[in-house]
Amino acid sequence: MPTVDHPTGKTLAQLGAESPEKIAHLFTEIRSRFDTQISGSLNPAAWEDVKQTWTGRKSGMLTLIGDNWLKPASPELKRVVGQELNKLKAHVESALEQRRRDVQSLADQLAAGKDRVDLSLPGVIRPMGSHHLIRTVMQEIEDIFFSIGFSIVEGPEIETPYYNFEALNIPEHHPVRDDMDTFYLDVPKGAPGPLLLRTHTSPVQIRTMEKHQPPVRVIVPGKVYRRDNPDATHSFMFHQIEGLAVDTDITFCDFTGTIEYFVKQFFGESVKTRFRPSYFPFTEPSVEFDVSCIFCGGSGTGASGATCGKCKGSGWIELFGAGMVDPAVYGFVNYDPKRVSGFAFGMGMDRLAMLKYGIDDLQVFFQNDVRFLRQFP
Ligand code: PHE
Repeated sequence: MPTVDHPTGKTLAQLGAESPEKIAHLFTEIRSRFDTQISGSLNPAAWEDVKQTWTGRKSGMLTLIGDNWLKPASPELKRVVGQELNKLKAHVESALEQRRRDVQSLADQLAAGKDRVDLSLPGVIRPMGSHHLIRTVMQEIEDIFFSIGFSIVEGPEIETPYYNFEALNIPEHHPVRDDMDTFYLDVPKGAPGPLLLRTHTSPVQIRTMEKHQPPVRVIVPGKVYRRDNPDATHSFMFHQIEGLAVDTDITFCDFTGTIEYFVKQFFGESVKTRFRPSYFPFTEPSVEFDVSCIFCGGSGTGASGATCGKCKGSGWIELFGAGMVDPAVYGFVNYDPKRVSGFAFGMGMDRLAMLKYGIDDLQVFFQNDVRFLRQFP
């Protein structure tokens, strides 16, 4: 900043510069001061300082020179001082402008350097999600049935007792409801109800037959709910896959052939299968379908010679319930029981997954522990 000692604070007379040569010399000196300052300004803030020092309206160097040198100068010297001052002004302005551009582009370069992407660095590896094992198994099962002409349909998880029970030949008084009674929903007063979380995928048999005339060949994957306490083989929510085939000429042989084909595709050719008589209100006859134990190969003894813990020494593992559709069910969907016949089955998908992939606790499917999930990429 100009001080009392600074030449611009004094008049030319005080500086003893009263000849054109001396004046020119003085301007040269001033100009070189400016040049030093401007070339030392390396960033926008320093540049702004220099600009203020030289062109500030009130006390910038150029103003001071006008006030202290030009105005008081004698008429003969005024012209010289005026010319020199104009040259200095033009120089200061153009140098400031030039420097502004340089400083700005330097600042831009620095900023760009900070943001630069170094393509040679290793990338950020984001963890990739994968299908849940239940989903994978669902797709495996769907693919097998799809390949033999079944289509895939879905139904609601919230059902009416009519679809979940009555239309499946399970009237209100039927004892089988005791095992199956489930979570009923609190419906608002006046709303149609009651409603419940379906206990099996079988209601979709009814929904499908209501909509379509035979031939019907569908599988129905989905979640089902029961009032069970969680343990290694029970959960209040699990997955089933329902199957239904109805046509004019379907026999028990078609049924066993289809099921055996599926099981061999899913577990491998070497598994043996068997049917045991069972009971479901909506199938007649009803069967329970078993496969030879996947863990001990059906021998009933494990590798160490001890009794196989999975099949408890029987050599068989219960897989699912099934049967020929009970003619009473056709009455609920306006099919002619004299004309049509068919079979149905309901498999626990979680159970199939556990058997195929050697998982001994159902709960791991629902705990979302990545250490488990990552084992099935
Ligand atoms: N819905 C029965 C259950 O959940 C299984 C089943 C389906 C049995 C179809 C026969 C026919 O236990």
